[in-house]
Amino acid sequence: MTAMTESPTTPRAYSPGLEGVPAAETALGRVDGEAGRLLYRGYRIGDLVARGTYPAVANLLWTGDWDPAHRLSTAPVPDAVMVALRALPATAKPMDALRTAVSVWGATQQLDWPPTAEQARALTAFSPSALAAFARLRQGLEPVDPDPSLDLAAGFLWQLKGSAPDAATARALDAYFIVGAEHGLNASTFTARVITSTRSDLASAVVGAIGALKGPLHGGAPSEVVEQLHQMGSVEHAEAWIRAALDRGERLMGFGHRVYRAYDPRAAALRTVAESMELKPDWLELAIGVEDVALRVLAERHPERALKTNVEYYAASVLQGVGLSPDLFPATFALARHAGWTAHAIEQAGANRLIRPSAIYIGADERDLPG
Ligand code: ACO
Repeated sequence: MTAMTESPTTPRAYSPGLEGVPAAETALGRVDGEAGRLLYRGYRIGDLVARGTYPAVANLLWTGDWDPAHRLSTAPVPDAVMVALRALPATAKPMDALRTAVSVWGATQQLDWPPTAEQARALTAFSPSALAAFARLRQGLEPVDPDPSLDLAAGFLWQLKGSAPDAATARALDAYFIVGAEHGLNASTFTARVITSTRSDLASAVVGAIGALKGPLHGGAPSEVVEQLHQMGSVEHAEAWIRAALDRGERLMGFGHRVYRAYDPRAAALRTVAESMELKPDWLELAIGVEDVALRVLAERHPERALKTNVEYYAASVLQGVGLSPDLFPATFALARHAGWTAHAIEQAGANRLIRPSAIYIGADERDLPG
């Protein structure tokens, strides 16, 4: 059997999963795993969390301008979307509901190509309302209208719970949204760029991205962090629990990372926000206390490999702390990533080339049909 490429161009070395293959140029997010740095348009993630808001960070990604006063509230859900959400079974996964909502929303809009910052703003403002509406409908509750006086993260909580969050809770979720906004050319962002490269519209790009994020290899499992902390129960019991889990060959959720060898800067930023909460809820005291124990035991068990806290650890704590049920975690991550997906779509369209890699053909040689 002869291996040959589809493409007439010179074949390059095959890299399964495109690992290490540059597939885009970007000025948006820079992920430096060795140094534990994450930059959005050159700005450190820790500084953006400390001094910015999600609307300001999203605007930075879309336009390149840093305006800390930039505001974005959640937007009303069009009737057609509400009809679709009401038709879904209460057992539907929130990610499926969100993907469906974005698709119906796209059908109600005039989304010309190329995608624009205005389109990105509208979609990013719509999706939290849609997810909150579904979360209420599945409980037999009526959706809550957006409150234009609230910024996006606080507005999402308002529509989810029907009561305005306190300032610390809103701040914690806003910080989570900032750290989730962008992370280079991950699978869902690449998906959004591929779809945009065909000159398809922004809603289609985000529908595809949500589909990619839904897979367990990408969307992560912060709910497993919650479960492990729950099983430990207290800081006093943590060390024995951790040692027993590692003896069974299990992994500690929220630690280790494929790219980061240093402390994940997103975890550090979320920890700072969590620690600054005046009244720390029990879940947070537990997470902070257990982290030190976990890092000590992991360093002892794996002296050859830097196993540090990753973003999921404090993401889980923050999401639980703001009162989200664990099955809403992945879709809430998708809400945060809207900024990055849509910014990449705008960037892709700005210097567009249809993304069309080649495949190495490994099938049968040319042959006649039997008979
Ligand atoms: N707990 C215990 N041991 C670990 C952990 C962990 N969290 N992470 C890695 N190790 C150990 C492995 O058992 C392995 O040891 P061994 O060689 O003795 O078998 C060694 O460290 C290297 O592990 P790899 O799997 O090669 O590391 P990799 O870089 O591929 O894994 C991953 C990264 C998948 C994140 C891993 O650290 C892990 O499973 N962590 C727990 C799950 C988690 O927190 N996922 C969220 C990641 S953040 C995100 O995706 C946004």
